[in-house]
Amino acid sequence: MAISDLAGSSLAASSLVGSSPKFQAVLDEINMVAPVDSAVLVRGETGTGKEVVAQAIHDASPRRRNPFVAVNCAAIPATLIESELFGHERGAFTGALTPRMGRFQLADRGTLFLDEIGDLPLELQPKLLRALQEQRFERLGGNQTVQVNVRVIAATNQDLWGMVQERRFRADLYYRLNVFPITLPPLRERTADIPLLAAHFVRKFGQRLGKPVHHIPDEVMEALTSHDWPGNIRELQNFIERAVIMTTGTVLRPRLAELTPQPAATTGRTLADAERAHIVETLRETNGVVGGKRGAAARLGLPRTSLIARMQRLGLMSHSERPVDHGRTNVALPENAMGAFASAAGAGGF
Ligand SMILES: Nc1ncnc2c1ncn2[C@@H]1O[C@H](COP(=O)(O)OP(=O)(O)OP(=O)(O)O)[C@@H](O)[C@H]1O
Ligand SMILES: [Mg+2]
Repeated sequence: MAISDLAGSSLAASSLVGSSPKFQAVLDEINMVAPVDSAVLVRGETGTGKEVVAQAIHDASPRRRNPFVAVNCAAIPATLIESELFGHERGAFTGALTPRMGRFQLADRGTLFLDEIGDLPLELQPKLLRALQEQRFERLGGNQTVQVNVRVIAATNQDLWGMVQERRFRADLYYRLNVFPITLPPLRERTADIPLLAAHFVRKFGQRLGKPVHHIPDEVMEALTSHDWPGNIRELQNFIERAVIMTTGTVLRPRLAELTPQPAATTGRTLADAERAHIVETLRETNGVVGGKRGAAARLGLPRTSLIARMQRLGLMSHSERPVDHGRTNVALPENAMGAFASAAGAGGF
């Protein structure tokens, strides 16, 4: 396939590529939430584009001319996060020789992107909550209040709601951050975007590396589309970069052997995947009935409410989808749940 056939739709400002219905829904959400100041929580597996989506929201917002400041809560040692976020006064701690502005203040009138928010130490969460609610805080070692105007976008690949239930993340902060959740689908659930993304990356790395690669053979495209990309877009991007480096002519020649099938069924699956697959399978057997004597909860030996909580935690049911009946709850399984089941059962995962 010639890559010029794959122009696709992309949000010019942010270079987000994709045209599948699931990705279109994400673009719609970005466009809906960008103009307002509401907090956004971006969820998704590693490499699904959480950071680029955060940047796209900022770029499409009225704050676009002001700073976009990113803080990776997982990359900063716990002892330094407070000063990193809120700044410090001279002498606040050993080594604080000069006063320093925190990222919160640097993001004034712009957007603060709190990446890997699940790694924010519990003891810092109340201070962050207050800063978000009141838009003010004190620097470490200072007693003067700093007033800011900051929009917050947080991201996580962890099950934040599960962490709330395990008391590892504060519920009040969770609700404050989760005003507008955006969940990024893994690449294996939007395979229709793979040709577009592949072409986009071939073009990008072709230009960067000065290689006129114009063509992706059909068998390569098929292999790309059927691989399940556990590292999502980042993995695809790296794969294409390697392929462009190895290509000498105009036709992309990747090492397809690198796309080894993922281990099927049980090996290499997380406990959450196994749990999700088992719940989906049981729900299939009960035609989606959760409660009652013949419902999935009874079969799984769980109270109905516990099963519902688990389904919400595993993304099989949204939190707003709280059933109101007593006993018989019929759930419509989301498409991706079936996908998870199908691949878990080895019925086409690879
Ligand atoms: N829709 C997209 N179109 C084009 N490139 C994308 C898209 N989504 C993500 N990318 C690219 O994929 C890579 C990974 O994206 P990003 O860093 O935003 O992922 P992430 O979800 O933050 O990952 P992690 O959880 O590992 O931090 C980046 O190089 C980004 O530019
Ligand atoms: Mg990231």
